[in-house]
Amino acid sequence: MQSFSTVLGIETSCDETAVAVYRHGEGILSDAVHTQMEHARYGGVVPELASRDHVRKLAPMIRQVLDRADLHPGSIDAVAYTAGPGLAGALLVGSAVAEGYARGIDRPTIRVHHMEGHLLSPLLEPDPPEFPFVALLVSGGHTLLIEVRAPGAYRLLGETLDDAAGEAFDKTARLLRLGYPGGPEVARLAEAGDPDRFAFPRPMTDRPGLDFSFSGLKTHTRLLIEREAGDDATRAAIAAGFEKAVVETLAIKCRRALKQTRLERLVVAGGVSANRRLRTALDAALPGRVYYPPLALCTDNGAMIALAGWFRRNEAGRAGDIAVRPRWPLDDLPPL
Ligand code: KG4
Ligand code: ZN
Repeated sequence: MQSFSTVLGIETSCDETAVAVYRHGEGILSDAVHTQMEHARYGGVVPELASRDHVRKLAPMIRQVLDRADLHPGSIDAVAYTAGPGLAGALLVGSAVAEGYARGIDRPTIRVHHMEGHLLSPLLEPDPPEFPFVALLVSGGHTLLIEVRAPGAYRLLGETLDDAAGEAFDKTARLLRLGYPGGPEVARLAEAGDPDRFAFPRPMTDRPGLDFSFSGLKTHTRLLIEREAGDDATRAAIAAGFEKAVVETLAIKCRRALKQTRLERLVVAGGVSANRRLRTALDAALPGRVYYPPLALCTDNGAMIALAGWFRRNEAGRAGDIAVRPRWPLDDLPPL
């Protein structure tokens, strides 16, 4: 275990093919992300297309990432890959390639939980958070509040009962006939809009608890678009009002979670953590410091998977068996 420092990370759980090499003590040596755009015209990820594109892209990307950093496959100590949660077919491609590649270079594999990758990604910042902290994980598939005592010591505080925050952004983008992925597009349109022109609900904030629900907000937005339709200023106002509602709802729950756990630090990660208004609102609304991953590591990437793999190096096992877990609750992870 002594020489265990360099991990190749592979991510294929959804619509990003991502590869990176992380070395403990040095950080990210090399990384590449390919975002699949063929889903754009369907307005959402088509699983079969995602799997096929991972098949095409993954092996050449591994070669490219190693070449770019002048790394020989022999300098890799282990191959970490996302084994879940995610799309079964997409995960299977990652598992097959990772297990095969690791077998070929005679190295072990580590099966990583995608959300643990997101959760640990702020540790790749130069000034990382100390443990313990509360983590808000906001991605296209998940909205989770977690009490994090140490790496691997997670307690679920709250989660969404229906749509994830990122999913709500993506669906709103679709209703507004914006591009894909929807989050950044809604945020861009919102910049020109008056967020207070229309009233939006702040779902589940009027009762105690730390769970979320975003599907009602989506319906509210849909009805508003149908009723008001109209000009650019109206569309921008709807985007801005929607964004503000999501942001304030998340901020209220974060404040509550910190109070309940008596913790000071908040870590925010996952695709929606790239949202500028969310960052501004959280920084202003919370008494303690808020930590984010570097912008490039908010959305899916290989570096966070390699890093999580390094933390779980004791779970490294002989390569060869393809295994994925499309549904995998975060608190099912064994302690470190
Ligand atoms: O973590 P991620 O890359 O993939 C999943 O694990 O799901 O998150 C993708 C999600 C998408 O829903 C995307 O629309 C959203 O993150 N997103 C944003 C922004 N950038 C990405 N949402 C709001 N504002 C953004 N700037
Ligand atoms: Zn993700």
